[in-house]
Amino acid sequence: MNMKANAALEISHLQAWYGESHILHNVNILVQPGEVVTLLGRNGAGRTTTLRAIMGLTGARKGSIKVNGVEAIGLPTHKIAHLGVGYCPEERGIFSSLSTEENLMLPPQLATGEKGMSVEEIYQMFPNLEERKHSQGTRLSGGEQQMLAVARILRTGARLLLLDEISEGLAPVIVQGLARMITTLKAKGYTIVMVEQNFRFAAPLADRFYVVEHGQIVETFAASELGAKMPVLTELLGV
Ligand SMILES: Nc1ncnc2c1ncn2[C@@H]1O[C@H](COP(=O)(O)OP(=O)(O)OP(=O)(O)O)[C@@H](O)[C@H]1O
Ligand SMILES: [Mg+2]
Repeated sequence: MNMKANAALEISHLQAWYGESHILHNVNILVQPGEVVTLLGRNGAGRTTTLRAIMGLTGARKGSIKVNGVEAIGLPTHKIAHLGVGYCPEERGIFSSLSTEENLMLPPQLATGEKGMSVEEIYQMFPNLEERKHSQGTRLSGGEQQMLAVARILRTGARLLLLDEISEGLAPVIVQGLARMITTLKAKGYTIVMVEQNFRFAAPLADRFYVVEHGQIVETFAASELGAKMPVLTELLGV
């Protein structure tokens, strides 16, 4: 009998469309609980679309997307979220007219039975956010907004985090803070799928890498193979 525990995320033969545009052609990704996986690729490769397809935010989808063993390909977005998935889009989605704390409290707890982080735990992890808890969303720096966007997801009880380019446009010192955040979340057992353009940020954090090109996975390798894969990566990504 196969006693294998469910993968946190198992994507097989995923295809996705925006209207008539066929964007994802054959995406296969397997993520075990507690792993940090990074999707690399050139601009327009289909990394954001992969995250959006997991959440049911593209047009038509075909293939299979299992979250903790549950088939999500036919589910609407809110039901997918309730499987324990938290999506942090590139545009962060902080409400400018609400305070930090109001933004934090906005998304409801998920029905997974997993308790999300308490506000106290979140402020322990992000002391900046506590200092800024009464500040309006628009008054936060880019780094603070990014941390708030992730913190808001942690409160919902999501254990699988889909993070799109969280380091983008942020100063190196802030990016270092985000790297520490990822390390802390990994130590707490979160499963993380990150899309990253900043290879130097992603390289030391990920357990495994996938390279997306023209809506397909063209390479996959473990962190231990990174050195050996550098020539291929240079060719595929220009890193
Ligand atoms: N809403 C949309 N409607 C139609 N086509 C889209 C839409 N969003 C993205 N695309 C197209 O899908 C392809 C993949 O885009 P995607 O956003 O997934 O790329 P990416 O790998 O995240 O790269 P980057 O973030 O650097 O643009 C691109 O050709 C893009 O033009
Ligand atoms: Mg993108």
